[in-house]
Amino acid sequence: MKLDAKAMRYMSTEDFRVLTAIEIGSRNHDIVPATLISQLSHLRSGGINKFITDLIKRKLIASESTSKYVGYKLVYAGYDYLALKTLSKRGSVASVGNQIGVGKESDIFVIAGDNEEQAVLKLHRLGRLSFRNVKNKRDYFRPDQSPSWMYMSRLSAMKEFAFMQVLHQHGFPVPKPIDQNRHCIVMELLDAHPLRQIEKIGEPGKLYSELMDLIVRLAKHGLIHGDFNEFNILVRDDGSPILIDFPQMVSTSHANAEFYFNRDVDCIRTFFKRRYGYESVLYPKFALDANKEFDLDVQVAASGFTKKDQSQLESFLESEQADGLAHNNDDDDNEEEELPSDEEIVYADDYDKDEAGSRDSKDADTEDDEDQDDDEDNIEYDRLGNTIRRKRT
Ligand SMILES: Nc1ncnc2c1ncn2[C@@H]1O[C@H](COP(=O)(O)OP(=O)(O)OP(=O)(O)O)[C@@H](O)[C@H]1O
Ligand SMILES: [Mg+2]
Repeated sequence: MKLDAKAMRYMSTEDFRVLTAIEIGSRNHDIVPATLISQLSHLRSGGINKFITDLIKRKLIASESTSKYVGYKLVYAGYDYLALKTLSKRGSVASVGNQIGVGKESDIFVIAGDNEEQAVLKLHRLGRLSFRNVKNKRDYFRPDQSPSWMYMSRLSAMKEFAFMQVLHQHGFPVPKPIDQNRHCIVMELLDAHPLRQIEKIGEPGKLYSELMDLIVRLAKHGLIHGDFNEFNILVRDDGSPILIDFPQMVSTSHANAEFYFNRDVDCIRTFFKRRYGYESVLYPKFALDANKEFDLDVQVAASGFTKKDQSQLESFLESEQADGLAHNNDDDDNEEEELPSDEEIVYADDYDKDEAGSRDSKDADTEDDEDQDDDEDNIEYDRLGNTIRRKRT
């Protein structure tokens, strides 16, 4: 999917206010009516049409009619802009370079941060296939809403970032996590190639053992990667492996843990046999080798990616799998998220008071919805990273 980061420079403060208002409104509405956009953005309803028309032209939002009203919804490009704006305000993304990966469920770009160091931006695109056609995955949302690619993509990014942080802190070979907002994560750019692209290796047995040790070490820490294969293992020039891509990771206490563990082991055995003609009688077994000694699974849950988030994501991935669209996962608990009602959320009204009218590229890159001048008492950050203001009761 295209990511036209340069065009962001031509976004006005009001354009961003309208985008953010639609994002917030989407939590309670499939299609957000103009009156709500006006209320949430604190822009006069008379003037709002101009911005809406402009955003539709730029393909950042789309209009849709219900039997009762015409309203608007974000499309991926609009969501990308909101995330990039926040990441750029924080200095994690200053410029976007080449696309280096187009996954089934992600787009990956090389970027540079304010420190001029290159890094990787991964935009999660969960459900880009399924939500286009399937309108019946209503379990994750209020009954009157269709499922949201936005919500699931954000959960997926939150999960990947939470796992990457915990694994990195505990010395596992994973990219260094840098930042996360909405459906995006920023991480270290690795100088390594996917195992899938490596035709020959000097000592396949050495890499094979390292990978099996990694599976076992993860399990001893309470975790199973769940998609441990030649696509998600990168290898440095010195032959050392690095593990990427964690949205399907599960705890060793998951009901199907043994199945996932064995599948990870089998992926490596099969690949080494097929690609390098390497076979070993030695391979780890869940019952013998996966005794948990540490509790990284618990630590991840404590890091902000909750058990409920995990359940919702697993449940969604499972339903996608049933549709033949995505990875495996299981779920036994599917609570609905408690969404704040419209009345509870009021857009932070000094969102851009210093920036009004500015269309200069520099300003557009640095203004943000997390204005630090806001009255701290009255401001909360939602899990999207947006500033929201709750009415005092
Ligand atoms: N931190 C990184 N440094 C360098 N390259 C990376 C990094 N992260 C991802 N890549 C590249 O992007 C590809 C896809 O990344 P990832 O597996 O995270 O996404 P994905 O959505 O699962 O994609 P796919 O469906 O192709 O597996 C990797 O195979 C790798 O080539
Ligand atoms: Mg992958």
